[in-house]
Amino acid sequence: MRYGYFDKKKKEYAVTRPDTPTPWINYIGSGNYGGIVSNTGGGYSFHKDPQNRRVTRYRYNSIPMDRPGRYIYIRNKNSGEYWNPGYQPVQRKLDSYSCRHGMGYTVLSGEYQGVIGEVTYFVPDDKNFEIWHVKLSNTYGIAQSLQVFAYSEFSFWDAILDQQNVDWVQQINQGRFDDGIITYYPYHVSDNAAFFATGEKVSSFDTNLETFIGKYRSEGNPIAVEQGGCSNSISRRMNGAGAFCIDVDLKSDEEREMVFILGFAEDRTAIKEDIKEYLSPGKAKEALTRLKKYWDDYTGRLSVETPDEDMNLFVNVWNQYQCKTTFNWSRFVSLYQLGLGRGMGIRDSAQDTLGVMHTIPEEAKQLIIKLLKCQFTDGRAYHLFFPLTGEGGQGDAPVNKFDWYSDDHLWLILAVNAYVKETGDFAFLKELILYNDRSTSGTVLNHLDMALEFTRNNKGPHNIALAGRADWNDTLNLDTGKGAAESVFTSMLYCRAALEMVELCEYLKNKEQGIKYTGMYEEMKNAINSSSWDGEWYKRAFDDNGEPLGSKENKFGKIFINSQSWAILGKVADCDKADKCMKSVDRYLNSKYGIVTMYPSYNEYDETKGGVTTYPVGTKENGGIFLHTNPWMMISETLLGNGDKAFEYYRRILPAKRNDDAELYEVEPYVYCQNILGKENPQFGVGRNSWLSGTAAWNMVASSQHILGIRANYDCLIVDPCIPAEWQGFKAKRVFRGAVYNIEVQNPNGVCSGISKITVDGAEVAKIPVFEAGTTHSVVVLMK
Ligand code: GLC
Repeated sequence: MRYGYFDKKKKEYAVTRPDTPTPWINYIGSGNYGGIVSNTGGGYSFHKDPQNRRVTRYRYNSIPMDRPGRYIYIRNKNSGEYWNPGYQPVQRKLDSYSCRHGMGYTVLSGEYQGVIGEVTYFVPDDKNFEIWHVKLSNTYGIAQSLQVFAYSEFSFWDAILDQQNVDWVQQINQGRFDDGIITYYPYHVSDNAAFFATGEKVSSFDTNLETFIGKYRSEGNPIAVEQGGCSNSISRRMNGAGAFCIDVDLKSDEEREMVFILGFAEDRTAIKEDIKEYLSPGKAKEALTRLKKYWDDYTGRLSVETPDEDMNLFVNVWNQYQCKTTFNWSRFVSLYQLGLGRGMGIRDSAQDTLGVMHTIPEEAKQLIIKLLKCQFTDGRAYHLFFPLTGEGGQGDAPVNKFDWYSDDHLWLILAVNAYVKETGDFAFLKELILYNDRSTSGTVLNHLDMALEFTRNNKGPHNIALAGRADWNDTLNLDTGKGAAESVFTSMLYCRAALEMVELCEYLKNKEQGIKYTGMYEEMKNAINSSSWDGEWYKRAFDDNGEPLGSKENKFGKIFINSQSWAILGKVADCDKADKCMKSVDRYLNSKYGIVTMYPSYNEYDETKGGVTTYPVGTKENGGIFLHTNPWMMISETLLGNGDKAFEYYRRILPAKRNDDAELYEVEPYVYCQNILGKENPQFGVGRNSWLSGTAAWNMVASSQHILGIRANYDCLIVDPCIPAEWQGFKAKRVFRGAVYNIEVQNPNGVCSGISKITVDGAEVAKIPVFEAGTTHSVVVLMK
């Protein structure tokens, strides 16, 4: 069953029924002010940081689900009937309904008894506020006397205190109204305010939630809407709301537009000035046009025309869009991550930069700098940081001997290297950046060097990386106090990172360092091969007692995906071993909906393995399809030249493929989710944790850089595809350092990989050069 479709022309996903299996959401804003909007208007907003500066509330685990939100109620003055264009929260059956999620905006549209109500939500020009542009049309044939209520529920800005210290928070909340603007702030704060405003003539308003909703009622039947007017409440304590009532008389066939603005102001005396040019519907629409243009430019830096329509849709639009969202919010705030406690992950954000590098490298650099600032002088890094306060931390994982994860710092090397390849900005490597004790600084190269040194200095009994609290797999908590558990995965990631440093040193002509990193790589590679090869695949780890995980000797968890893919990515496996690893993954882990993390799943809690065994069989890291790991397999297959297999893995997890099967899949078909219940689980195929996942960035990398093979290098652009043999070729446009490359790949002999000739602007070349910004070039790549 399907709940909507892709509107390719408009670059929107249109939801056609409100009762989606889970709320299907979108994000507005570009990482500064913004929020979540569901297909029925549920969701919330925050400024810079959902934990420390939340603007409106959302009740996770609430019944009914997905409340509250940004609500528009339309009331017929004569009949007293009221409804919402997005169906919720009143849930009146509409004559028609649609939700259109576009890039950075969402349009809800509903029709009831001849009135069409449409609301468009978006953040204009990266301001600290959002627009709700409302349009009403009367198609009824006779005049209608209506009222529009716009409503949002404020949160105390510290979202943890909002739930923990009700005693204090509810005594200090203040709501005021002045000249069309409702402000909301704690009693002792003299400058900031959250606000809700309109340019319309206000018939009545409420700033107090209890007054608007009424006792023992809900958003579904607020007393203010029922009785046809707000009470002009000025909140001096309790819960804050922003609510306006506007009277609208519509003649037959008449339309009326209006704007509401919700936001956060650091200086509340400036709100009026800040918002004034956006209060008129015409200006609001111009801002929406600018937003669409921003996204067209953003996605326009890479576009492809392949024989696979779904791939085109994802590479050109949805995957790029999701990558920007994960770049903005890491794993901090979604319908599954509550915007509390987690902050921005260091490993997560480092990987997220890979998905936006081709289009906003400068912004990626700024995030990389923040991440480098989370590194300690010994090379390890914090696990997370909070964007508003800049504070870092190690998260809430079980505390063992270690206060570090074995992998966080190593991802920084991949991120910096990707940045330098994209931009050629070698000077960045010499920039001084503070370590997180804020007194010592080192160049970016020092930071990267120390990242490798940290792992080198923290090896275990098999001479491979100690596991620390965990590695990429947060739930493998193997250290029970002895400090001996080891991670094969981290050791392989270290090999990859060391090789990237070798590559970089070659370009820097730094022979000495290059030799050092080659030595580090060789040493680790040998240690892995002598301790962790299991016969048909690589083991995954050793627990604190030296017992292997991911070995044929194990009853559960005999084989794990990551130590196979990273054996290839880290160049640890020779040809024979590489081939065996890939075959074993296909044989034991591959499934209809994607590749599972490991097999067989643990069937009971085991404290020597930790968190992974808290999950039931086939769930998340315990034998679920953790999608983040799948593109690593795609890349591995391309590195071995297996274009058919890489593409098969790519197709298997493409969300669009699940559009017609959404009843089972449950989550949004326009973005990747983090996990799908695995083949051993009775609910095999159900997706969860949509949106914020490393799956986004890595699928972007796998599809565009490895399957299509278009990737940046220090001094050239590489086009080295590894595609399905049946493809006759494809076309692509890539902007690289400001120049446009129109690429055509021809595959006359039906091969998966290998190039026989490259021509640029008609002349044969060995590599595709960097051109002057602003110029356009045509590249033809002939495969073997
Ligand atoms: C979650 C975490 C990420 C981790 C992954 C696997 O997505 O945010 O950091 O790598 O789970 O455990």
